[in-house]
Amino acid sequence: MSDFSGPDDYQKNFDPKAYLTYYTMTVNSKENEFLVFVLTQLAQIFNSGEVKGETLIDIGSGPTIYQLLSACEAFKNIIASDFTDRNREEFKSWLTNQPGAFDWSPVVQYVCQLEGDKISWREKEARLRKSIKQVLKCDVMKSNPMDPVVLPQVDCLISSACLEGACKDLETYAIALKNIGALLKSGGHLVLVVALECPYYMVGDVKFSSLFVTEESVRESLGRAGYVIERWEKSKASDHFWETSTELSGYLVVVARKNA
Ligand SMILES: C[S@@+](CC[C@H](N)C(=O)[O-])C[C@H]1O[C@@H](n2cnc3c(N)ncnc32)[C@H](O)[C@@H]1O
Repeated sequence: MSDFSGPDDYQKNFDPKAYLTYYTMTVNSKENEFLVFVLTQLAQIFNSGEVKGETLIDIGSGPTIYQLLSACEAFKNIIASDFTDRNREEFKSWLTNQPGAFDWSPVVQYVCQLEGDKISWREKEARLRKSIKQVLKCDVMKSNPMDPVVLPQVDCLISSACLEGACKDLETYAIALKNIGALLKSGGHLVLVVALECPYYMVGDVKFSSLFVTEESVRESLGRAGYVIERWEKSKASDHFWETSTELSGYLVVVARKNA
């Protein structure tokens, strides 16, 4: 039996509510070093004018919205996507402000602070909700990941901690990078958030495999898939941090451009 968590495992066993407990950000934000690092990077990337345009697609959104909070400052239209039905339902539950939806407000407030408190957190939530135009089914292993929907190529893709879960080896990792690249205009940007050297992660009591990628293998795969790296930021995970839920050495936030 393979240890790889495939599409059926995600569809059957990935519990969005259990996964979202990772994103319970407390007032002492040091308690979530992944979020602090990634949100800081994304605030810089999307507020500096470095990456902007009309439309951005989020690949493998899962049930989370944190990765889009700064992106909505630079893109008018956002398309979210995920493989599983339950993740898309949970995502839509926040989008349409349903009772029982996950409370992202501490994270939204933190991003507003990072961006200089230009708008209130409620305005930020409203801005993000307004910018999200579709929530689509996505499979990064398909040559058109949004199949059967055919989208015009967009200015930017973002993907956070998705490809390590979806891909069983480095060969498929490079193929998935190429597949999602088909959704991107030549010269468009890919913003990639990577869990480094991570063999697995827990969602509640269920263990999901994660492709063990190093900085070198991410660099090489991006090159093979036709991207040119423009920005590379790494943060080391502290030893104690993920103790019970995963093992990993650090996090990467990369900006790469699709070769023209
Ligand atoms: C670790 S979660 C990351 C979720 C979210 N992006 C985040 O930053 O927390 C991995 C996500 O990848 C999705 N996924 C797994 N296989 C996939 C595939 N073949 N195509 C697209 N998404 C997939 C899962 O449904 C899950 O939402």
